[in-house]
Amino acid sequence: MRVILYTGKGGVGKTTVSAATALRASELGHRTIVLSTDPAHSLSDAFAIQIGSKAKELGKNLYGEEIDVYKEITNNWGRIESYIKLLLESQGLNEVMAEELATLPGMEELFSLLKLLEFKQAETYDTAIIDCAPTASTIRLLSFPEIFQWYMDKFFNIGRKIAKIVRPAAEKLTRIPFPKDEVYASIEQVYLKMIKIKELLLDNSTTTIRLVVNPEKMVINESQRAYTYLNMFGFTVDAVVVNKIYPQEVNTSYLSNWLEIQNRHIKHISRLFHGTPIFKSILYDKEMVGTNALSKFAAGLFEDADPTACFNREPPVKITKKGNSFVLMIKLPGVNKEDISLLTSGDELIIKIKNFQRNLTLPRALQTRQIKEATTEDDWLKISFV
Ligand SMILES: Nc1ncnc2c1ncn2[C@@H]1O[C@H](COP(=O)(O)OP(=O)(O)OP(=O)(O)O)[C@@H](O)[C@H]1O
Ligand SMILES: [Mg+2]
Repeated sequence: MRVILYTGKGGVGKTTVSAATALRASELGHRTIVLSTDPAHSLSDAFAIQIGSKAKELGKNLYGEEIDVYKEITNNWGRIESYIKLLLESQGLNEVMAEELATLPGMEELFSLLKLLEFKQAETYDTAIIDCAPTASTIRLLSFPEIFQWYMDKFFNIGRKIAKIVRPAAEKLTRIPFPKDEVYASIEQVYLKMIKIKELLLDNSTTTIRLVVNPEKMVINESQRAYTYLNMFGFTVDAVVVNKIYPQEVNTSYLSNWLEIQNRHIKHISRLFHGTPIFKSILYDKEMVGTNALSKFAAGLFEDADPTACFNREPPVKITKKGNSFVLMIKLPGVNKEDISLLTSGDELIIKIKNFQRNLTLPRALQTRQIKEATTEDDWLKISFV
């Protein structure tokens, strides 16, 4: 199964591009599903067909689904959530606050994505296109499995060992409710799913991410940050879509300045995402709603290309061997060296760029080595271990 995720700033055209990609894929004979993980679903609006939380046939080879996030949370997290609520309330937190804190940021959309594991196993579709929420949520969503795994390793493994020994006595003494075995069973299930979804999302022979941008300064800045964080977490961005470009024929005196501004931004985008293919679409004279409009949009955007192809396979995190030392390379174009901080702690390398952080568990070969130097060169951060 091929998985393509579209993300970008609010309103840039993510839903339109996702719908158009799915439509084109189905026309080329791929059994395709288009999903939205944004709780504010708008796939129905794009297709002008009411799509619900069950896969709905939208045409030959084409299905759509607007995932019911709350159902997915209850299924996967219900028991754990009840326990965390109990725990927080036992510490004097009121019910509403406890409820808020019992779900973690990034979790909602991620639980929607767990559907992919079912599709993969059942081999129902050749292609899944995901219309994600705006960039910030998508980054939280994609970094969630790793962070979740980290917490669970640090917290629950230890917690479980202690719980077995001290539960009855401790519960009386501390009035802290200890999790029951069924809570642990739920956690284990979620944990396993997280590992599987992380593998699926990081495997760039299956999954790639595409950034949708408009030729506007703030949109580009947000996308560049997103690109940095996606690279930092090892996700492959295989294409960039520049949408809503004014066509040349609107070169009236009123819009001529805009044409120039957009041209400048498009050049800037080519430099920023150098090495990643860029697809472009003009701003049409009406909204892109319904299959006719989406089909026209897809033809303009992809021309003869099959949009399910992987347009760039270079992984953004690589390890190479150079003589006696190893070099860990991370693709970070446009990032200032001063904004990067590195720290090793046990078997982890902690990489911080502005307010984002990744605790990268180092491969065994690097764990016993020390960082000799870190340099930035040709868009790559290179960390040498000796
Ligand atoms: N190239 C285009 N030409 C004309 N209209 C477009 C184009 N691209 C998108 N639109 C229209 O712009 C509006 C916003 O697009 P869309 O809903 O796809 O954006 P989005 O990024 O998914 O927004 P949100 O962040 O709210 O989910 C829609 O009405 C859509 O039909
Ligand atoms: Mg949308």
